[in-house]
Amino acid sequence: MSNSSPLNGKRIVLGVGGGIAAYKSVELLRQLVDRGAFVSPVLTQSSLRFVGETTFSALGSERARTSLWEGDDPIPHTLLGQRADVIVVSPATADLIAKYAAGIADDLLTTTLVATNAPVVMVAAMHTEMWQHPSVVENIATLRRRGVIVIEPESGRLAGGDIGVGRLATAERVVTTVEGLFSRADKRELLSGKRVLVTAGGTREAIDPVRYIGNRSSGKQGIAFAEVAADFGAEVTLVSTVPVTEGLAIKVIEVESAQEMFDAVFALADESDLVVMAAAVADFRSKLISPTKIKKKNGAPQIVLEPTPDILAGLGSAKRKNQVIVGFAAETGDPETEARRKLRDKNADFVVANNVLEPDAGFAVDTNRVTLVYGDSMVSLALSDKRDIASRILSFVAEWAFKQSVWSE
Ligand code: CTP
Repeated sequence: MSNSSPLNGKRIVLGVGGGIAAYKSVELLRQLVDRGAFVSPVLTQSSLRFVGETTFSALGSERARTSLWEGDDPIPHTLLGQRADVIVVSPATADLIAKYAAGIADDLLTTTLVATNAPVVMVAAMHTEMWQHPSVVENIATLRRRGVIVIEPESGRLAGGDIGVGRLATAERVVTTVEGLFSRADKRELLSGKRVLVTAGGTREAIDPVRYIGNRSSGKQGIAFAEVAADFGAEVTLVSTVPVTEGLAIKVIEVESAQEMFDAVFALADESDLVVMAAAVADFRSKLISPTKIKKKNGAPQIVLEPTPDILAGLGSAKRKNQVIVGFAAETGDPETEARRKLRDKNADFVVANNVLEPDAGFAVDTNRVTLVYGDSMVSLALSDKRDIASRILSFVAEWAFKQSVWSE
């Protein structure tokens, strides 16, 4: 395993914060070491109330450090940060997140964080109330803006028996994200020079100025595709129904209805090398849109529906040589069979199928479990966060496109 992992030979600082989830970092440490990484554990003083230094020293690649003021090395805080290929903080408590956002460096871990240029992954875990507190929300946004990768907590049973969002992500999820950082670095050029068009979010079909017909799509998977395509060097346009901040390599066009999305996509389709239709486009819209708010006193309105244009099918029928089209199939039944039908009917090159009824896949959650259907084949990807799913699919699609000579090197 260690030889095949992108973590083989990487230097990782594993920072452990003072939360009950600190015990889970033991498993994370073991998995990182198993993949060939050289892991230096750094424990905060409050973490020592939850876990023992000896455990981390025994399982780590070197003895655990717990203070700025120990050892023979006069400047370990800068050395650790400078040498690291990545710093993973697990659990990242509300306190550590706040300190890091504010640039406070008052112990070995926070000093190492402030003294590094390496990527930082914060694996957040705390009580639901704390996670939702405006200060934590703002600190997380600040860190993300600075490029810190935040792995959000999952829902489940928390310390004290409460149920809610706050539980530390699994070690597997953290390892996949950290591995993705290094495989992404190798893929920085994979889509360079390519123009990628991505759609995201659910369309809203107006009934009157106040109401619309909508769906539960959050846009997260589509946004992840746009971000990863930009990481891979592409010039990206994201046509989205949910607000997204523009990035250097991501141009955003906000739309609302299927028709607006159709118009925006077709204005760009011809010049796009890859189109990823991750949006949940409404199939029907109201035939009439009332220009004024429909009033209750007139009784229940009869809303007559008509079909919207099928954007993916339109793209498929106008597909040009050297263009790759990826569609989605959000299903509640048998995703593979439906995906194969959509692949054929809409002339797409790939269809990403998922079952949106699964609790950890589909709408609004951060994880997804998908099957990629193409030609006569398919590959199933394990449950992972949506960014990692996007990364794997884009790598697969790009390699396929080069191998099939749809794209030339
Ligand atoms: N799609 C589209 N335009 C539409 C409807 C869907 O471009 N008017 C795209 C979606 O973006 C997705 C794919 O088609 O990539 C499949 O969407 P989905 O809603 O799963 O399938 P439908 O085509 O609506 O088929 P069905 O109702 O049979 O599930």
